[in-house]
Amino acid sequence: MMPLDLPPPDADALAHSARLQQAIAKLVQVEGGAIPFSRFMELALYAPGLGYYSAGASKFGASGDFITAPELGPLFANCIAQAITPVLRAIGGDAEVLELGGGSGAFVVDALSALARVGVSPRRYAILEPSADLRERQQAHAKARLPAEQFTRIEWLERLPDADWRGVLFANEVLDALPTTCFQWREGEVWEQCVTVEDERFVWHSRPADGLVGGAVRHVRKDLGQPEWIEGYQSECLPQLPYWLDAVCGSLAQGLALFIDYGYPRREFYLPERSRGTLSCFYRHRTHDQPFLWPGLQDITASVDFTALAEAGRHAGLDLAGYTSQAAFLLQHGLEHHAAPDAQDAIASHRRALEAKRLILPSEMGERFQVMGLSRGMDCEALFAMGDQCHRL
Ligand SMILES: C[S@@+](CC[C@H](N)C(=O)[O-])C[C@H]1O[C@@H](n2cnc3c(N)ncnc32)[C@H](O)[C@@H]1O
Repeated sequence: MMPLDLPPPDADALAHSARLQQAIAKLVQVEGGAIPFSRFMELALYAPGLGYYSAGASKFGASGDFITAPELGPLFANCIAQAITPVLRAIGGDAEVLELGGGSGAFVVDALSALARVGVSPRRYAILEPSADLRERQQAHAKARLPAEQFTRIEWLERLPDADWRGVLFANEVLDALPTTCFQWREGEVWEQCVTVEDERFVWHSRPADGLVGGAVRHVRKDLGQPEWIEGYQSECLPQLPYWLDAVCGSLAQGLALFIDYGYPRREFYLPERSRGTLSCFYRHRTHDQPFLWPGLQDITASVDFTALAEAGRHAGLDLAGYTSQAAFLLQHGLEHHAAPDAQDAIASHRRALEAKRLILPSEMGERFQVMGLSRGMDCEALFAMGDQCHRL
């Protein structure tokens, strides 16, 4: 465990967290004394009215816990809009966008504005956001900033679309927020990391993995040629990913699904020396590894195994369009142009230069964040012409 030096929450926040803690502890009792960590993470992040994403605290930006690429400013959305413009153009008037996990609403505002400037506004811009609180924030943010003609294109969905649609599915930092399974490798067997309650505190508890989790880990090990993991090696996996991707892309009849997140190809994700996994918590711009601290007040994430995403794509009948770093992708799609200095406004130019650096420097988001495109019924490989890294998967 890392030593923690975190600013303490105020009394209201602690009371809120205590309510969620009690609700989770009750469920642990009902479930026979332990729940899988994935279930704990689901409740800590999404329990209605109490979970980190479901309750009202500000999460994004300087006053929150972390900053995502769309929160830095419009550059990220401008580049993504430029990247998807040929896809929307090729599809024509029926083209739609579906954004998963709209965050604060910053991305939809900047992306729709950029698409309108080049005359390719999608017929509909759908957002699937599981958090009612974030949905409200997105609506207020977009309504205050977009002209009515653009705002009315946005539709917040209650569930994934049933009817076939064509266009672009976009998800930035959504995969890392999916409830992850944690496992341990002990004496050649897979154990699932669960959560139990001792002395009114959550603690880890391991039990032999069931067929789904055991099968997912054995598949990873087989694919990697049975790596030498130390006794007690810990990591994460998403056994539900193929089913999830099948569900989210099932009705995408033609177009591109673009996923951006922090992660690695499988060989790097499960390096023997990464023996404590990738689970990370975010609280007031500090990162730590203690997911049981203050449930509901901190974000919990795990990095993405992009090889698993490519496999899930194949399982869902999608083609792998490409895989690259965020830096390479944004540079291919106009970052330098969008960040060009404005001779009339030195302050704005400086701000844009800083924003560009955070997006592409290897020490910031440039290399840690990766982009994967999965396509159906159209060739999207040209979007990854600069620095495609599919060979690393
Ligand atoms: C780290 S935030 C990223 C938000 C935004 N995309 C951004 O980049 O600022 C994760 C988002 O994913 C949403 N989310 C989590 N699980 C989801 C799911 N299964 N489907 C759609 N959105 C989901 C969360 O509610 C939240 O809006």
